[in-house]
Amino acid sequence: MEVAETIHEMRQRRRIQGINRVVGVVPTMGDLHAGHLRLVDFCRERCTFTIATIFVNPLQFGPKEDFANYPRALARDKAELERRDVDVLFAPSIDEMYPGGQSGHANVTVPNLGDELCGAARPGHFNGVTTVVTKFFQITQPDMAFFGEKDWQQLTIIKRMVQQLNMPVEVIGVPTCRERDGLAMSSRNRYLTREEREVAPALFQTLREVATHLHEGSTKYADLEESAANKLREVGFRPDYVAIRDPDTLRPPSSNQDPVRVFGAARLGRARLIDNIGVER
Ligand code: PAF
Repeated sequence: MEVAETIHEMRQRRRIQGINRVVGVVPTMGDLHAGHLRLVDFCRERCTFTIATIFVNPLQFGPKEDFANYPRALARDKAELERRDVDVLFAPSIDEMYPGGQSGHANVTVPNLGDELCGAARPGHFNGVTTVVTKFFQITQPDMAFFGEKDWQQLTIIKRMVQQLNMPVEVIGVPTCRERDGLAMSSRNRYLTREEREVAPALFQTLREVATHLHEGSTKYADLEESAANKLREVGFRPDYVAIRDPDTLRPPSSNQDPVRVFGAARLGRARLIDNIGVER
């Protein structure tokens, strides 16, 4: 595996080694877990040249968020990617990505989809994501790009961006990797204490209960959302939202709409956990 730290190096590798190959990119913020490695596996199965990126993107963190403490494990990540036969790791510095600083940097905005759900609790977050993903696409020129379904809202926004801005990239969503007790894998699970880790699977269980009610024919969305949020509160979470939404528009669905998706985000101790599941009725 080659490691490129500058945009120039990355472009050269792409131009020379990526020629006549199907190029896939797996953007990450590092601290890789099995969920990220599944993205890499998906990429390697579909592409003949795999690029992974590791960059903790300051632009997508709010001023009171965990940018400074976000887990970083570059040496271990490199070894994992090497074992997975990744062709190039692009791991730029903040100065390389934002040489003139972050304020005043050009910004990619996808209207509407980013204002609700996680966007309401994290203003500006999705602009930071779409901006850095656009930069990665410009730098790596991929045919395909791979993102986890755990971040469904992010995946939906990136798909919309690619479609509306005519980017020649196929965006592939990869199913969420879960721990044995159902907790969705996330680098932020590291923030959980032992006691909180025991409580954490309740987020997925609660979303599953909502899904069961939907399967059974309930269309009382507001009641289901409220009682799920209350259940989370009872076990110690501070929920941002539980929401039943259209999977593509992320808008509240009509009563006969099918499929729908159940989304949840809740804080537990220092961690903010998110999850979602699809429901076909
Ligand atoms: O999902 C993530 O890890 C990040 O939001 C991404 C897509 C790598 C952009 O920084």
